[in-house]
Amino acid sequence: MDQTAPLKTVKFHSGEAIPLEMHKVRVVQKLNLVPIEDRKAAMFDAGFNTFLLKNKDVFLDMLTDSGTNAMSDNQVAAMSVADDSYAGSASYYKLEKAVQDVFNQKYYLPVHQGRAAEHIISKVFVKPGMVVPMNYHFTTTKAHIEICGGTIEEIYTDEALKIKSDFPFKGNMDIDKLHKVIEKWGVDKVAYIRFEAGTNLIGGQPFSMQNLREVSAIAKSHGIKLLMDTSLINENLYFIKIREAGYQNVPIKDILHEMLSYTDFSYFSGRKVSCTRGGGICTNDHAIYMQMRDLVPLFEGFLTYGGMSVREIEAMAVGLYETLDFDVISHSPTFIKYLVDSLDSRGIPVITPAGGLGCHLDAGAFISHVPQGQYPAGALAAAVYIASGVRGMERGTISSVRDEAGNDVLADVELLRLAFPRRVFTLSQIKYLEDRIQWLYDNRKLIGGLEWTEEPPVLRFFVGKLKPIGDWVDKLVAKFRADFGDSL
Ligand code: F0G
Repeated sequence: MDQTAPLKTVKFHSGEAIPLEMHKVRVVQKLNLVPIEDRKAAMFDAGFNTFLLKNKDVFLDMLTDSGTNAMSDNQVAAMSVADDSYAGSASYYKLEKAVQDVFNQKYYLPVHQGRAAEHIISKVFVKPGMVVPMNYHFTTTKAHIEICGGTIEEIYTDEALKIKSDFPFKGNMDIDKLHKVIEKWGVDKVAYIRFEAGTNLIGGQPFSMQNLREVSAIAKSHGIKLLMDTSLINENLYFIKIREAGYQNVPIKDILHEMLSYTDFSYFSGRKVSCTRGGGICTNDHAIYMQMRDLVPLFEGFLTYGGMSVREIEAMAVGLYETLDFDVISHSPTFIKYLVDSLDSRGIPVITPAGGLGCHLDAGAFISHVPQGQYPAGALAAAVYIASGVRGMERGTISSVRDEAGNDVLADVELLRLAFPRRVFTLSQIKYLEDRIQWLYDNRKLIGGLEWTEEPPVLRFFVGKLKPIGDWVDKLVAKFRADFGDSL
């Protein structure tokens, strides 16, 4: 399964480079593509928040890659032999063994999903007045740290937020900034350093082994713990293997073990990493394990299920081993690269280089006439859905929170994320999306901004509602009909 040989690639005689599925489809689910007038009505019902759309109105669901990935035949088969019991289930011990084999970590605490791990880790290690330095935040991570009275410091490199770049490891930490943050806060105030694999909010961008090694050395020299969020480890592994000098012939398992050898503990969302649900916290440090262990039965469930169903546990055990298969971890980044490179070559603003997780449109540039206070990323998410039936996710100012004075904190970047659930969509579906994005880009001046009608104080992007400023939606729909006739 693991590949020690140089990377396998398929070359096309024509010279064209397109991604190729290394699997076949044996179970399918029917999709709906409703007319644009229905999509417009659905968007109004959803308060211009793609989280609030109903799946029946969505054609390609690219909201997230979380819990929406395709399982393998072996995963589905494993689910039918699950051993149901509250305590001591044989399914659990298979998963524990998979964690030990795949991650090379002795101790495992099961949780129902990634943020549950963040909850437990923050509760144990983050005290009021403490800081967690990290390459970049993730929404739920930040919220859990702040709810415990902590603060985050992002120590990304200058390349991280550049939309157009050919820097291969935009997820790296800036070593100078890390030194400065530790000096500023003092070692005792640093709860731990958090390194996120496949850095989600800057476009699914990886860090390099070299950078991880340096960060780990600094953490060790101060006696600070290093935590890795491995939710997006699949794609970070893929990028180290193909982009980092010296790793092309190293088996994926060895790359993964080397990565985790630099950490004190790690956690993952199984909704991404193993194409299942659930999650976990892993460590080789008995003391760290013991600090968190008793919170699992309190918040999640007994230590041998942690809020997961035994069927998910079985599928997760198999899914973790599949993370070591190059065909599995390369599928999503190669499809993402296809769309990113194609849009980029047409001058449509996207984050480059292509990362894992999804294609990220730079809404700030795409509709530069929409002021940031009118939420360009949210407006573009609505426009893409109305034009195509494809649902993406706003990753901009709507996804941040207001400051204490009640002012919007404008996001560093206004992104529309079009996530690629692993092994779910075909190339023709991606080509359809590419075509509709091009049409929208040609008609971008028609798109306007949004304003709140209902704004929750915490994680407002999940359930908040907005409305369009002016009648731009009607104009967009009219132009679509003029250009596409009676097409869906
Ligand atoms: N860490 C990262 C890097 C994530 O991307 C996510 C979830 C989590 C932690 C939390 O895990 O959802 O299982 O509780 N990301 C999803 C997304 C929600 O759509 O990007 P969870």
